[in-house]
Parts: sequence; structure tokens; C-alpha cells
Amino acid sequence: MPLHETKIHEENTKIYIWKITETFEDLFDQVLLNDTNLIRLNNMKSELHQRGFLSVRMLLQSAGYSDNDLYYDEFGKPHLADGKHISITHSFGFSAIIISNQNTGIDIEMQREKITLIADKFIDTEFDFLEKEAADYIRKLTVIWGVKESIFKIQNEVGISFKDHISVFPFELEDKKTSALLTFANLNKEFKIHFMEIEDFTLVYAFEKN
Ligand SMILES: CC(C)(COP(=O)(O)OP(=O)(O)OC[C@H]1O[C@@H](n2cnc3c(N)ncnc32)[C@H](O)[C@@H]1OP(=O)(O)O)[C@@H](O)C(=O)NCCC(=O)NCCS
Repeated sequence: MPLHETKIHEENTKIYIWKITETFEDLFDQVLLNDTNLIRLNNMKSELHQRGFLSVRMLLQSAGYSDNDLYYDEFGKPHLADGKHISITHSFGFSAIIISNQNTGIDIEMQREKITLIADKFIDTEFDFLEKEAADYIRKLTVIWGVKESIFKIQNEVGISFKDHISVFPFELEDKKTSALLTFANLNKEFKIHFMEIEDFTLVYAFEKN
């Protein structure tokens, strides 16, 4: 499917979402790839990953950029040559990018029962407001996971633990926003969080609070 949705979060921040229904060949024919990323693509083991990677290039093109405007630092974090901030995510049938004047992180996750099995590994203070028996438990866990991945993408530093260093404030799914705190080494930062559900996926994006 062409672009699933473009969401203007606020002036200077746009989110582009792709629903990946095309074949590898369809996507490959439509995008420009630089040499490094062509090698990366060829080294990917799963076609699902390759289609996710290619669909991100479709999103870049929709935003007026090409693969040549994108580079990665030594941690794997993507950057745009014009100095705007970008964050990238892909998961199964969806991919998304966020482009902003502010440092930002984005994450899309499929809502899966499996997340309940690893909740203890990434949830700590949030157990105070989560109800394990509630019908929306999996959806809320997925939001929290997305929050922590998004913050990690903004502040990627070795040693950050999702469970011990990132704490998400209480929220309801209808709120579509919350806040979170990163307390790590000498860092003490608060983040604004927004989220939305698309089919059975959860998209989260974060900005550092000024
Ligand atoms: C790097 C990481 C954030 C990627 O997230 P993911 O959910 O696996 O995958 P997503 O599709 O959402 O994101 C992948 C994209 O993140 C971006 N990315 C990779 N490393 C990054 C980093 N260090 N900082 C910011 N963005 C990064 C890339 O653009 C990548 O896609 P691309 O290489 O195709 O362009 C994740 O693998 C990670 O390391 N998380 C922290 C580790 C952790 O603490 N895990 C769980 C503890 S319980």
C-alpha cells in the first residue's frame, strides 16, 4: 500500500507510516539505495526485514529525502544530512519514520501476548498502575515497551536498563499521551510521550521535555 498515513504532530515534526503490502521486488524497483545500504540489504537474512528496510526508503522519499541524505553513526542511530532529527522503526507489516527539529525516537510494535512473559524484565514502577487481569494489559505493556525503546533511541547509551532507569508515568489508552523519566548515571531527564494504535500495532514517539 502506498503511504498509510502522514501525521503532522506539530509544526516541524512529521510522522510517516507505511503499511507494507508490496513484494520485495516492487519495493526494490522504486527506491534508490546507496552502496553501503545495498550491501546491508543483501546481508539481511529475512525478507520481512528487507521489506521493512526498503519501505523506510519509500517513506524517506515521501518526505522529500533519499537514502543519500541518511547516514548512521557508530551506534546505528540514523541522522539526516540537513541536520534535522530522524528516527526509524519497522515491525512485521508496518514501518514508520519521524522527522523533527527536536531530538526524537519512534517505535512500532505488534501487540502480542508474548509480551506478558517478559514484563518482569522491563517493568518496575509501572506495575503500580498496571492490572494484570485487565483486558487492556497487553496493549498497555506494548505502549510501555515502545516508550522505553523510543527513549533509548533518543538517548542511546551503553548501560541504560529499561527496567531500572526508565519509568513511565500512569496513563490510560484513551489519553494517547504520557510522560516518562530517565534516571541514569548523572542524567535525570523527562520525556513527552505520544502513542497511537493502528490495527493491532502500537506506535509510540518521544521527545525530550525542555
Ligand atoms: C537499537 C534498538 C533500539 C532497535 O529497536 P527495535 O525495536 O529492535 O527495532 P526498530 O525497528 O524499532 O528500530 C530499528 C531502527 O532503530 C534505529 N537504531 C538502531 N540503533 C539505534 C541507536 N543506537 N539509537 C537510535 N536509533 C537506532 C535504526 O534506524 C534501525 O533501523 P535501520 O537500521 O533499518 O535504519 C534496539 O534493538 C535496542 O538495542 N534496544 C535497547 C536494548 C535493550 O535494552 N533491550 C531490552 C532490555 S529488557
